[in-house]
Amino acid sequence: MSVKLNIPTEYTLKTCELDERKVTYRAFENLWYCEKPVDPIQKLSIYVPEAYYHAEKIGPYDQHTAPIFMPNTVGGYLPGPIDKPGIDKRSKQANSIFQALEHGYVDVSVGVRGRTSGKKTTDFFVGSKEGDLGTETGKMIGRAPAFIVDYKAAIRYLRYLQGTIPGDTNRIITNGTSAGGALSALAGASGNSPDFTPYLAQIGAVNERDDIFAASCYCPIHNLENADSAYEWLFAGQNDYYRTKHQRTEHGIIRVPDTGHMTPSQIKLSHELKALFPSYLNQLGLTDDKGTKLTLNKQGEGPFKDFVKEQLLRSANQELQTHENETTRQNWLTNGSQVEQQPYLIFTAGKVTALNWDEFVKKITRMKATPAFDALDLSSPENEEFGDETVERRHFTPFSLQHSSVSNSELADEKIIKTLNPVSYICEGTATIAKHWRIRHGSFDRDTSLAIPLILALLLKNKGYDVDFEIPWGVNHAGDYDLAELFSWIDEICAPA
Ligand code: DHB
Repeated sequence: MSVKLNIPTEYTLKTCELDERKVTYRAFENLWYCEKPVDPIQKLSIYVPEAYYHAEKIGPYDQHTAPIFMPNTVGGYLPGPIDKPGIDKRSKQANSIFQALEHGYVDVSVGVRGRTSGKKTTDFFVGSKEGDLGTETGKMIGRAPAFIVDYKAAIRYLRYLQGTIPGDTNRIITNGTSAGGALSALAGASGNSPDFTPYLAQIGAVNERDDIFAASCYCPIHNLENADSAYEWLFAGQNDYYRTKHQRTEHGIIRVPDTGHMTPSQIKLSHELKALFPSYLNQLGLTDDKGTKLTLNKQGEGPFKDFVKEQLLRSANQELQTHENETTRQNWLTNGSQVEQQPYLIFTAGKVTALNWDEFVKKITRMKATPAFDALDLSSPENEEFGDETVERRHFTPFSLQHSSVSNSELADEKIIKTLNPVSYICEGTATIAKHWRIRHGSFDRDTSLAIPLILALLLKNKGYDVDFEIPWGVNHAGDYDLAELFSWIDEICAPA
């Protein structure tokens, strides 16, 4: 299909009222952002506070200086459809788009393809939109790197519109959770990278820059080719897994428990994968603020582990002082995570002074059996993400290919694996990397190893980028739970001089 990209002039004046709160905005909805779309999801909506059309200010911002907040709704590497101001189902509070409008940001909600684009699916991940089940076209055109190609095409389209709609395209801030957090991190790490040029040309993206100013990433499920060994670095020795899968049905979302004991062969692989982690970690050359090298010995012990422990202590102390999560973030906390109730924390004179690592790991529990991401039977969402139009699923680590239980299984192309990993772009240093980063990973989040977001944060910090990293105590796999703080951060980095 071929469409002509226009400067949008038609809009609907809308008001959204939630409890005592109200936002009035112009909605420019369902605009194609590329000239040769391959899927109906490739549209975006722009929401602009009406005040900006009356020469008014909201906080420090006016129509020229308002930051552009660009959240995505990707979860589980599924398609992420357009969202609009309204209620967030999980928190039952105003969603990020509503709150961002209220705060004076121009909001852009982008629809991006995902691993199941082209077929119906009952898959559902916490954080993704319930939406419909998809359409059966038989054309699997949403696999890697489609989601980041679409996000980039949308960013380029916004630059094409600069000056015609309020908002400053030099202040684009992406936001996402989990696979959507990975997408936000990719947008931040791979700005203008030539790796995406052919994909962007294929969908007829406009010829503009696609770098962004800042990336907000909640529990980003990224660095997939190293996530299995990082997972076992944390969880080897824990042989029971506790997971709840979600499925869409006609009657809404149902929860399907998936709990079990790992087989002797999985346990063996767990230890083999754990042994691979130190050499990966060590070659990154990470350091702390004092310049100490954050390495690990062959047993997985050393300064990096001490550093992770320190971050956990910092998180526990923060919660002990404020009880902010316990009192204001109940919806996002793991039951039984109250800081005073953790027997593996040592309290001295009103402070948390030590943490028993093994007991902490036992408490948060393993969620996924080994290998956590590159499943030997190709059954993980990530395996499907690395499929393409002709091959349904692929491995993305030599380890799982070698141990694969599927005959004739393939390894994804290394170039495609790279396009999905923000860390590869940060290491390479050839792309335009966002100046500002905000990364959050809850202390009770077991969807990926705590090492994974820490590597991202440390690497960026070591390379001189501005990084705000926290491990909020008790929080599980979730995002958007601290929007007031997120917006304060955005205001700090964006406030007009
Ligand atoms: C998500 C969660 C996972 O555990 C995973 O492997 C991939 C994606 C998610 O919630 O988006």
